[in-house]
Amino acid sequence: MCGIVGYIGKKQAAPILLDGLSKLEYRGYDSAGMAVFDGKKIRVQKAAGRLKVLDEQTRGGSAMPGTIGIGHTRWATHGAPSNENAHPHYNQDETIAVVHNGIIENYLKLKKKLQKKGFEFRSETDTEVLAMLLGYYYKGDPLEAIVKVMQRVEGSYALGIIFADHPDLVYSVRKDSPLIVGQNEGGTLIASDVPAVLKYTREVYFIQNEEIAVLSRDSVSFYNIDGEEIEKEPKKIEWDINAAEKGGYEHFMLKEMYEQPKTVSDTLNPRIKDGRIVIEELGMSDEEIRALRKIHIVACGSAYHTGITGKYVFEGLARIPVEVDLASEFRYRDPIIEEHTLIIIISQSGETADSLAALREAKKRGALTLGIVNVVGSSIAREADRVMYTWAGPEIAVATTKAYSAQLIAEYLLAIKFAHIRGKMSDDACASMIKDLKAIPAQIQMLLANKENIQRFANRYLAARDVFFIGRGIDHAISLEGSLKLKEISYIHSEAYAAGELKHGTISLIEEGTLVTAVVTQEELYKKVLSNIVEVRTRGAFVMAVTNEDNTEIEKTADYVVYIPKTNRYFTNSLAIIPLQLFSYYVSVGKGLDVDKPRNLAKSVTVE
Ligand code: M6R
Repeated sequence: MCGIVGYIGKKQAAPILLDGLSKLEYRGYDSAGMAVFDGKKIRVQKAAGRLKVLDEQTRGGSAMPGTIGIGHTRWATHGAPSNENAHPHYNQDETIAVVHNGIIENYLKLKKKLQKKGFEFRSETDTEVLAMLLGYYYKGDPLEAIVKVMQRVEGSYALGIIFADHPDLVYSVRKDSPLIVGQNEGGTLIASDVPAVLKYTREVYFIQNEEIAVLSRDSVSFYNIDGEEIEKEPKKIEWDINAAEKGGYEHFMLKEMYEQPKTVSDTLNPRIKDGRIVIEELGMSDEEIRALRKIHIVACGSAYHTGITGKYVFEGLARIPVEVDLASEFRYRDPIIEEHTLIIIISQSGETADSLAALREAKKRGALTLGIVNVVGSSIAREADRVMYTWAGPEIAVATTKAYSAQLIAEYLLAIKFAHIRGKMSDDACASMIKDLKAIPAQIQMLLANKENIQRFANRYLAARDVFFIGRGIDHAISLEGSLKLKEISYIHSEAYAAGELKHGTISLIEEGTLVTAVVTQEELYKKVLSNIVEVRTRGAFVMAVTNEDNTEIEKTADYVVYIPKTNRYFTNSLAIIPLQLFSYYVSVGKGLDVDKPRNLAKSVTVE
């Protein structure tokens, strides 16, 4: 997720671009850049680090003359945060400049083709491929070149483009990444989000998928993918700047929960090629994968919970024994690491002190290490032997939601790939699992649409003292995360238990009205968990069950039931967690707490 801004008008562009970018820094902040046409040439200025570095370099933009330009604030995806990888990117002869938000899935294939034709690349980014491809197709008509590029690229994009040959126009286009256009008497702007233009106008055009906007100093016209002109109506924005930053959502956490379908697609789709799972960054040969004897998954907090799900998935599908460790324990427990062991470190931030120390410990012991990391160029990403990125974009809320969902997808992909290569899964079974994976984004969307019901239910538990979460197998892993979410943002004491374990002590805490959330998604365990539900209900508990849509029988036993759509039994975590996230969120909102910044917590725990 990055921020893009473009401007054409009567004023100097660079200060306006910087101002717009400053409102988008929550979308990305590892580097920034601007391209401005100065009357002769497109000048590009880029800086690694926060936007203020670019601001200082250009003296608030005053050092970049010109009234047309594009700007970008980056959240690295392809290539570490650096000057070279920062946007804008030029085409070969520097007559076209491009800023991009999104991920081009087939960029490597396109890059190879262009390299064969003699194009020389200066960065590791997918965006530079777009710029070069535009240059390749450009024969004097920008619209024609843009349409050709749209037909060739796969993935998501919102682009701002300027052509030195057409210094009175800014071009823009989108697919699956947001883009808006705003206009006032001083000029016309594009941006990836409303906050960047609110200072100038409240009337904005929302560009839809595969629509192109062409901006001049005093007008804007729109085209479809066939290059035909279309009509669009502006919408009036009523949000204030704070609400606009959150895309109109009340909190970043809610916004990020709603980003989960996209996060899942972004993590999944680039790794499915011609119906097969391709994880180039893994860099392991089939022989090495076949030789694996053990996997250790090491992480903290929610990332650790995805690791517990991972254990069930890797063991169940690929039949590789898995040990899951809290990073803070792993680093001091003198673990036995044998030959042919893969150590997977999972971390959103890539900076968690214990996870980083565990990674270093694992490397010292000679194991092959793989980081599943969200922040490109972070310490874990840099130090792990291999890194598989989750494409969740910046996560602002302290309570993780979208990064958690992306981590699960990364583990599913690895497990299916390992299972297939090790001969534990047929081609057909593999294809069927990929089909189920691809259905997850729409299924998450459906579950999010049930938010009003969950909110009503959550409002009944604002004064709860203790809440328990129970489940067996993968459902226990889901319970752990449901419980952590509730604790961290609602300050209600909560515990997660393997459902069969309650009666060994904890059941004494169940009183009249205690809420017990039972996660029941594993068909072969339905009956077992049902008995556990009966045990707690007999002692006065009120039971909310989260279960599969075919398990309607449960209504006879549980007090309140939330259904999840049908999916493969190994993927239920990705769906069952959604109502639990919503529940915690609405309890926190109902209690009037600071949802995004809960007390005593930090987004990234860089101390031991
Ligand atoms: O950045 P990391 O994924 O390494 O962070 C690990 C935990 O600190 C993190 O998941 C934490 O538990 C979250 N606040 C949970 O919402």
